[in-house]
Amino acid sequence: MPSEVESKLLIVDDLPENLLALDALIRGHGRRVFKAQSAEEALGLMLAHDFALAILDVQMPGMNGFELAELMRGTERTRHIPIIFVSAAGREMNYAFKGYESGAVDFLQKPLDPHVVASKVNVFVELYSHKKALRREVDALATLHREQEALVEQLQATHRELERAVRMRDDFMSMVSHELRTPLNTLYLETQVRKLHLSKGNTVHFGPDRLPAMIERDQRQIQSMVRLIDDMLDVTRLRSGALTIQPKPTDLVFLARAVVENLSQQAEAAGCAVSLHAPESAPGSWDEFRIEQVITNLLTNALRYGGGLPVEVSVHAAGQWAVVSVRDHGCGIAEEDQRRIFEQFERTEESRRKAPGLGLGLYITRQIVLAHGGEIEVQSAPGEGATFTVRLPLGAALLKLAPPAPPVPAAEPAKQ
Ligand SMILES: Nc1ncnc2c1ncn2[C@@H]1O[C@H](COP(=O)(O)OP(=O)(O)O)[C@@H](O)[C@H]1O
Ligand SMILES: [Mg+2]
Repeated sequence: MPSEVESKLLIVDDLPENLLALDALIRGHGRRVFKAQSAEEALGLMLAHDFALAILDVQMPGMNGFELAELMRGTERTRHIPIIFVSAAGREMNYAFKGYESGAVDFLQKPLDPHVVASKVNVFVELYSHKKALRREVDALATLHREQEALVEQLQATHRELERAVRMRDDFMSMVSHELRTPLNTLYLETQVRKLHLSKGNTVHFGPDRLPAMIERDQRQIQSMVRLIDDMLDVTRLRSGALTIQPKPTDLVFLARAVVENLSQQAEAAGCAVSLHAPESAPGSWDEFRIEQVITNLLTNALRYGGGLPVEVSVHAAGQWAVVSVRDHGCGIAEEDQRRIFEQFERTEESRRKAPGLGLGLYITRQIVLAHGGEIEVQSAPGEGATFTVRLPLGAALLKLAPPAPPVPAAEPAKQ
């Protein structure tokens, strides 16, 4: 609204009585009148304030009104202030000043006619108010425009993110189906074969020399499906913050040995000789089940991507840390992939071509290690194998998961 804008008016005259008279004529609601008795004083005020109008006496000692207007024209800040010249000289004299840039130049003749003064000043003040209001609207529009642009950018980013999420979900679905299908197919074929044998009364097929191997095979398929589903459940737990660590005194060497033993058949199938280098014991306080999962994931990867070459698992204590590392001599991992393989679903191109997998193992592994206050890193170069090293604080897990706050004493009434 134009009327809300305060208009500052500058009057310049060397005679104080003229200033007073003019002030009385032009003052009004929403206006502030500034007075200057010389061109210099006027310029100072103009630099400090934004004026809606300057009324300049033409005849002044020193710099006259026209000269002051010249100076105003030369300065960016004052160039656009409309001017009314006041002069006692004839009308034609007043046109001596030409070409003032704003074009907003008018003239008043002495003696001043109050009505003429009021109406001229009103015109300029109105003009100024409108200009100000317009500028405000333009500024508001520009802000709105910028906000809209930011919003559009945000929407586009969300859209891209959603597209990526949908793509990831689709990839994930097809990977999971594929991963589940392989062991299921094998099991299904096995049952078909067994059914056939049974129907033919071929019981020798189920004899004591064959049965244990048969069960072993079945178990492997089932285990691989259970592992897959467990991984997916773990990722869901991690996302909802529901994966908890329950540390208790345990031994890293004991856990590493158990994993190496558990995976001995898998190692044999992969053609990898697994060796364990460890001291007698490496005690600490960790979640046994989760640390076993960590070592299992690392060793499974070493067998899977180790190219049938020997794999070394080693455990040692270093200051306040217990360290377990798994080293293989397989295809290795390029530097640019070494960070991302710890993220969900991230696999290298090479492994994508070679072996099935969901790309969840290292993600889960890293989260478990971090939850223990530990760290995991990989050292590798393409073609030179990989060494995954996990450092676990000996007691930090206990420190991290502080015991719950003591209960409120019974005597204290519960707060409402
Ligand atoms: N020992 C290793 N040697 C080479 N590449 C590895 C090794 N361990 C992990 N990787 C790479 O990291 C990726 C992610 O590993 P992981 O999260 O365990 O998923 P997955 O084994 O299901 O592919 C693997 O697909 C592979 O590309
Ligand atoms: Mg893996």
